[in-house]
Amino acid sequence: MTDQSAIPPLRVGLTAPRVPPPNILVIFGATGDLTRRKLVPALFDLFCENRLPAQFCVVGFARREQSDDAFRADLRASVQQFARAKPDSASDRWEKFAQMICYHQAEFDSADGYARLAQRLNELDAARGTQGNRLFYLATAPEYYALIAERLGAANLAELGGAWERLIVEKPFGSDLTSACELNRQLRAVFDEAQIYRIDHYLGKETVQNIFAFRFANTILEPLWNRNYVDHAQITAAETVGVENRGGYYDGAGALRDMVQSHLLQLVALTAMEAPVSFDATAVHDEKVKVLRAICPLCDHDVDDVVARGQYAAGQGMIAYRDEPRVAKDSNTETYVVLKLVIENWRWAGVPFYLRTGKRLPKRATQIRIQFKPVPHPLFSRDVVSGIEPNVIALRIQPDEGIYWEFAAKRPGQAIQLSNVRMDFGYATSFGAAPGEAYETLLLDAMRGDSTLFNRNDAVEVAWSLVTPILERWAQLPPPEFPNYAAGAWGPVAADRMIARDGRVWQAP
Ligand SMILES: NC(=O)c1ccc[n+]([C@@H]2O[C@H](COP(=O)([O-])OP(=O)(O)OC[C@H]3O[C@@H](n4cnc5c(N)ncnc54)[C@H](OP(=O)(O)O)[C@@H]3O)[C@@H](O)[C@H]2O)c1
Repeated sequence: MTDQSAIPPLRVGLTAPRVPPPNILVIFGATGDLTRRKLVPALFDLFCENRLPAQFCVVGFARREQSDDAFRADLRASVQQFARAKPDSASDRWEKFAQMICYHQAEFDSADGYARLAQRLNELDAARGTQGNRLFYLATAPEYYALIAERLGAANLAELGGAWERLIVEKPFGSDLTSACELNRQLRAVFDEAQIYRIDHYLGKETVQNIFAFRFANTILEPLWNRNYVDHAQITAAETVGVENRGGYYDGAGALRDMVQSHLLQLVALTAMEAPVSFDATAVHDEKVKVLRAICPLCDHDVDDVVARGQYAAGQGMIAYRDEPRVAKDSNTETYVVLKLVIENWRWAGVPFYLRTGKRLPKRATQIRIQFKPVPHPLFSRDVVSGIEPNVIALRIQPDEGIYWEFAAKRPGQAIQLSNVRMDFGYATSFGAAPGEAYETLLLDAMRGDSTLFNRNDAVEVAWSLVTPILERWAQLPPPEFPNYAAGAWGPVAADRMIARDGRVWQAP
């Protein structure tokens, strides 16, 4: 029996999550980086915590010839490196987990490869009791998403009747509005919308889900969370890393596509949405889409005023973006974007949302900072309040996950002097545990049939409709003067100028 006194107080009473029904997970692109670094380590951690069904298998689908054993050995090394649990020799948990994994060699376009896959899945159903339930995970380059869906349909793997079949699609979902709409059309020619799970792994983060809890399980926030009290919001997603080994992909994408269209607009939606009528997936998606639709679209003239971009030069011992592997020497791809959005609805009219994201910035931090208005009547004299900022609520999405409230307090002593102080909630200190990996949550949710934390087709398309005019405007302009910020600095001066025009400053996350 668990010693209750050893459990951190806030964990007492937390129930064990529901185990999903039996199923087979087929990973397309099973020898790739995502499978190795994220998917299989997440599955092993789930397995070690008894959160996977007993009747479960993973089939890895990729091109290279290799045996089941070679595939498992490769995954063992990844799990050793990236999972919380380790495949130690003291227990046989790795061996038990590895028995659930097999490898299927085929080309993505090979009809025969899918026919053999169908046969193999049937055999596994019979041998492992997986009941015909299939979860297909597209962990491949985006150009294969539609092809694989089409081949699955042609092999009758998209609908079996009685059992369920679901398709998880990785990011990026399209590269502009036209391609995203086309991909939706291609996938929905084979799968129903209810079968399609579009990943934005930010939505699987505990801290992102906690935005729901924070906003909709606490009475005191609702009266304040609007234009009457909020001056503006700053959403920052800062990375210290450069492009690492993703130069080939990133140079064709850039920060606007890679971060803003997906993660940052999701954070805006969760911060600004109305309360859904329930936590049913449809109700949540409806509210998110509604607020994304309320964002004022940008025309050419707006883009020049409220969007700025940057690319990092060498600095602090780090090389310039253009010298990174697989990046063009004359690349005009942005590694930094800042933009100001306006949400035209009753709650947020007149409250700007400033978004910024970049690589090679001084600190790794993703944060939503809600800056409240100053008090209406200055009761304290100017010298007493000098240096005092209006209230702030900041949601630290990563790292050091938590939330703080910044407010003014009287300093100890006879004289009236005020300082800003913080009340701080940290996941690690309150719950005695760091938040789990996003992919664990998302994999389990897809197996359970809960799409709340995935993207619906209309949300993806609205997000692209906001970003595409910026891409089109940039394509019309002369090449930007890149590079324009040093690696290790907080982005280009244009970012500071943009917010300064509104009489505001960026606050370090
Ligand atoms: N890596 C990440 O951390 C990360 C994060 C977020 C999103 N994503 C997204 O996840 C997706 C996968 O990325 P990745 O980095 O894992 O890709 P990757 O390392 O390039 O892996 C590609 C996989 O596809 C297989 N493949 C390629 N062409 C094939 C073909 N014609 N037939 C059969 N198999 C083929 C490869 O098999 P062989 O090795 O046998 O050729 C390999 O298993 C991308 O959409 C990416 O944007 C990745």
